[in-house]
Amino acid sequence: MAETKVICFANNKGGSGKSTTCSNVGAALALAGYRVLMVDGDMQLNLSLSFLPEEQVLELARSEKNLYHAIREQKDLKDYIVETGLAGLSLIPSSTLMSGIEYELFTKWQREFILKKCLKTVRESGEYDFILMDAPPTLGGWVMNLLCASDHLVIPVEASPWGLFGLANMLEFVNTVQEMAPQLSLLGLVLTKVDERKNYFKQTREYLQEMEDIRVFDSYIRVDSAIEWAQDNSQPVVTYRKSSRSAKEYTALAQEVAEYAGR
Ligand SMILES: Nc1ncnc2c1ncn2[C@@H]1O[C@H](COP(=O)(O)OP(=O)(O)O)[C@@H](O)[C@H]1O
Ligand SMILES: [Mg+2]
Repeated sequence: MAETKVICFANNKGGSGKSTTCSNVGAALALAGYRVLMVDGDMQLNLSLSFLPEEQVLELARSEKNLYHAIREQKDLKDYIVETGLAGLSLIPSSTLMSGIEYELFTKWQREFILKKCLKTVRESGEYDFILMDAPPTLGGWVMNLLCASDHLVIPVEASPWGLFGLANMLEFVNTVQEMAPQLSLLGLVLTKVDERKNYFKQTREYLQEMEDIRVFDSYIRVDSAIEWAQDNSQPVVTYRKSSRSAKEYTALAQEVAEYAGR
């Protein structure tokens, strides 16, 4: 039986396409026949909203069946899994209370590894080929938990001057985490919200490609209004509008992710 691969989508820059990329890569992997578990690690609930209607997401956020309560009580995450409308794709939803998770972690023993411990049974059950986790736009103890529980990291980068600005901090943070969690590998950077008409995109891509030992995925995601329509309908674009440009781009990206993650 092949091992479950845990992949986190993180970047301290907000709006860089983390949640959109995480949800669409997950859905594309499920459509390709992989068994996928999505973990919503952000209080903004965007990953949950990508798969479930708003009323259900809010109800789960208000209930005790979400990631915040599981982490706070250090419970086994197998009891927090919710099915979605998409075959082969399940979700652990988030809560707006996640904003207080740093405080909850603060006094705990081995606080960087709490998520890893809570995820152990699910991971070892072999029920999933992939566990994909969406991170908030911060660099603190909670993101450290997400990365300590991961095999791989994908960093979505917006092709803009400010998109690049925070990347050095992010990469430095990853180096620090790797001292504690040597299994963590940076799978690659993916450019998002690309406008090919702009020279800035080409310059950004070349700049990133010149960075040593860091992969830039061949696939990149162009600006596409179908993404927003899909989100408005509680679906990833790869299921909402399969023929759209971004659906094809995310499907290609998911293939690259699966290949490099060794599945
Ligand atoms: N390729 C794209 N084309 C158009 N809009 C996009 C695209 N990718 C993301 N967006 C929009 O940009 C915003 C930020 O994306 P999101 O995935 O939420 O970023 P993050 O999770 O990093 O904060 C969202 O409103 C989303 O709908
Ligand atoms: Mg997000």
